[in-house]
Amino acid sequence: MSSIFVLNGPNLSRLGSREPDVYGTTTWDELSASLNDAALVGETIDVRQTNDESELIGWLHEAIDTTADVILNPAAFTHYSYALRDAVAMVTESGRTLIEVHISNPYAREEFRHTSVISAVATGVIAGFGVNSYHVALAALRARR
Ligand code: DQA
Repeated sequence: MSSIFVLNGPNLSRLGSREPDVYGTTTWDELSASLNDAALVGETIDVRQTNDESELIGWLHEAIDTTADVILNPAAFTHYSYALRDAVAMVTESGRTLIEVHISNPYAREEFRHTSVISAVATGVIAGFGVNSYHVALAALRARR
């Protein structure tokens, strides 16, 4: 059984009502369900969200220890969390695939969103396709297996 963690940072549980002009109207529950439904036979997709940086880092350690690949939307942590970056670097250095995803295109938004401290240590980045960014990431991740 292969495992994929879909890890999400702060405020993403508010999808559907949070800035729908930017993030769309799909709710968090709908997004989680669509990702769980996308699991292939022999694959588990584990979707999680936290507002807590420490918990998110713990989940990345768990991905290393359980050899799970990761789709990560670090949300606002993208732009400043060196602790999260160091954990992401450990995931990719351990040989796992980790894809950074964003619902919006941060480069088309405020200047502080133009910096990602995560991208340089991720396997790759997918951004700007709405909640479909996660499904594009899933396809990209599977293509590397
Ligand atoms: C986001 C973009 C970030 O800049 C923002 O802080 C988020 C969501 C996205 O998915 O578009 O919370 O990661």
